[in-house]
Formats: sequence, C-alpha cells, structure tokens
Amino acid sequence: MKKRILITAISAVMVAVATPASAQFAKPEQAISYRQASMALIGSHFGRMAPVAKKEVPFDAAAIAANVEVLSVLAQLPWAAFGAGTEGGDTKPEAWSDAAGFKKDQDDFLGAIEKLQVASKSGDFDAFRVAFGNVGKSCKTCHDAYRKEK
Ligand code: HEC
Repeated sequence: MKKRILITAISAVMVAVATPASAQFAKPEQAISYRQASMALIGSHFGRMAPVAKKEVPFDAAAIAANVEVLSVLAQLPWAAFGAGTEGGDTKPEAWSDAAGFKKDQDDFLGAIEKLQVASKSGDFDAFRVAFGNVGKSCKTCHDAYRKEK
C-alpha cells in the first residue's frame, strides 16, 4: 500500500518535471487567459496616465508615483505565461519562433518601466512625460512584431 502511494507520488513529480508549460498552468488556455488578463491590467494602469501626459488632467505627482508602482508589479506578470506549448491567443507564432527578439522586447519594456519609476518618484512632470512616452513606444514595438492585428 505504502509503495503504491510512493509510486503515485513519484510519477506525479515526473509529469510535472516533464511538462514545464504546465508547471504554473494546468492547461494552455489558462496561460493564455492569464497573460491576456495581466495585459488588460497593464493597459488600464498605463492608459489612465495618458490624459495626464497630454496635459488634459492636472499632474498629481503622488497619484502618478503610486500608480506607476502598481504598473511596475503588473509589468512582471505576463511573461511566464508565454511558455512552450501555449501558442495561440492573440500572440503571433513569431513570439516562439523568434524567442530572442520577443525576450529583447520584454527587457526593453521592463527597462522603460524602471525609468518611468525613477521619473515618477522625482515628481518632475517633464521627466514623467518623456518616460511615459518611451514606455508607450516599447508596448507598440512589441505589439507590432508579436501581437496579431485585430
Ligand atoms: C514584449 C511584448 C509586449 C509588450 C512590451 C507589451 N505587450 Fe501587450 N500584448 C502582447 C501580446 C503578445 C499580446 C497578446 C496576448 C495573447 O492574446 O496571447 C498583448 C495583449 C495586450 C492587450 C490585450 C489584452 C486582452 O484583453 O486580450 C493589451 C490591452 C495590451 N497588450 C496592452 C499593453 C500595454 C499598454 C503595454 C505597455 C505598457 C504592453 N501591452 C506591452 C505583447 C506585449
């Protein structure tokens, strides 16, 4: 009896090790909805600052810095959900066939987010506006290359 349980446990571990894409997500669809949900949140927390950058809404330095803190956490989330075997959603196959290029766009984006964090902590509007624009460019660079047209 004990031996049976042990064998079951060992085979469960082996299945987990053999299928890295399933380590965090039981099914590919779950990875796809996870990355779409985290991108949607990134879109919300990024997009809400656009009227401030365009000077349509007054610059509230503390509110911007707090929102950028949230954004910088969200910015970490989608990438683990693009593992092997999770092709699909609105992602072009190039995200997997050109994995190095896709990774570079992630790194550039995360670098731009770091600069936005520094700028927003400085409380300086122009520094914020420039850093905000650069993050926007990094979203677009990746979408143009790796996200399907809608
Ligand atoms: C390194 C690549 C990359 C970067 C950087 C990136 N995205 Fe995306 N984004 C994608 C891909 C790929 C998808 C499609 C995901 C899927 O459906 O499989 C996507 C999807 C989205 C979606 C749709 C989510 C949904 O509801 O399905 C939004 C909104 C979005 N991104 C906003 C942003 C914003 C805003 C930024 C920058 C602040 C950004 N993204 C940065 C690659 C990227």
